[in-house]
Amino acid sequence: MAAEKSKVLIVGGTGYLGKRLVKASLAAGHQTYVLHRPEIGVDIDKVQLLLSFKHQGAHLLTGSFDDHHSLVNAVKVVDVVICAISGVHIRTHQILLQLKLVHAIKEAGNVKRFLPSEFGTDPAKMDNAMEPGRITFDDKMKVRKAIEEAGIPHTYVSANCFAGYFLGGLCQPGQILPSKDHVVLLGDGNPPAIYVDEDDIAMYTIKAIDDPRTLNKTVYISPPKNILSQRQVVEIWEKLIGKELHKSSISKEEFLAAMKEQDYSEQVGLTHYYHVCYEGCLTNFEIGMEEWKPLNFIRKSTTPPSNNTCAATYNYH
Ligand SMILES: NC(=O)c1ccc[n+]([C@@H]2O[C@H](COP(=O)([O-])OP(=O)(O)OC[C@H]3O[C@@H](n4cnc5c(N)ncnc54)[C@H](OP(=O)(O)O)[C@@H]3O)[C@@H](O)[C@H]2O)c1
Repeated sequence: MAAEKSKVLIVGGTGYLGKRLVKASLAAGHQTYVLHRPEIGVDIDKVQLLLSFKHQGAHLLTGSFDDHHSLVNAVKVVDVVICAISGVHIRTHQILLQLKLVHAIKEAGNVKRFLPSEFGTDPAKMDNAMEPGRITFDDKMKVRKAIEEAGIPHTYVSANCFAGYFLGGLCQPGQILPSKDHVVLLGDGNPPAIYVDEDDIAMYTIKAIDDPRTLNKTVYISPPKNILSQRQVVEIWEKLIGKELHKSSISKEEFLAAMKEQDYSEQVGLTHYYHVCYEGCLTNFEIGMEEWKPLNFIRKSTTPPSNNTCAATYNYH
């Protein structure tokens, strides 16, 4: 008889990635619980989103980061907790709130797997990241440290670049729609990065939760066909629209000087673009290939301009 699927609690299920995690968990047949906070007040869109989860079969649980017992009670109901709390400064950055969740998981004592809110660049590889953007990696590492000190079984998901943020604007910071005339290349536009459709990220995250090979490991979502330089992204778009874009380029010195003129939250995001697009930080290290495991799955990316079929795979170490 097939083993029973884990019961899953999604924290941050109303967010950009979180709602996809809820959908993917339900689609994979997990009993899915969504924590919602009383603080949402009269946010009618959030309430309707939560109701739509309920109609799709999710169970709604009320809990607040300001109420420890509510968190303990919520995590006691499930086997796996996935947190997708916000961590993008131009929206909000609440990564360290997870320390309260770690505390609750430790006290509850029943959780077989915790996946903290990561889903980006592996923070363990970003020791030398620049200010002010390094706060994202530093805070995610603080959460990892708390998880490991508490002895909580975990999986970290390094999902590389969300396609919606990066591909939509042809890897130009501050743009999420592709231009039909002109593109600014970051430097020579050649360092490769890894762009992953957010629905795919959610699906692979859910695939990892009951997989014994990913226990206490980092999963890298890096489908080989999604490893592209900015120039290659632009080429795909040019083929789609049947037109060559006018190209200019911004040197790293100009990029860094312009960054200093921006406000703090913009600077955090721009630092991340710098590491990804000028330094190639997503592809400049080796992943333990001895355990490479292709998943038998082909998915068509829906995010423009990447209409190529992605053979999705994950690596873990
Ligand atoms: N790799 C990439 O390119 C990339 C891009 C974006 C994000 N990420 C990462 O993905 C993860 C999720 O980010 P996201 O953009 O999906 O997040 P988001 O949409 O900004 O927010 C996610 C959730 O955080 C909750 N939240 C915010 N403040 C809270 C508070 N004070 N107390 C309790 N809950 C709170 C929200 O709940 P309410 O609805 O109740 O407010 C929402 O459900 C982060 O770790 C982020 O760093 C990676």
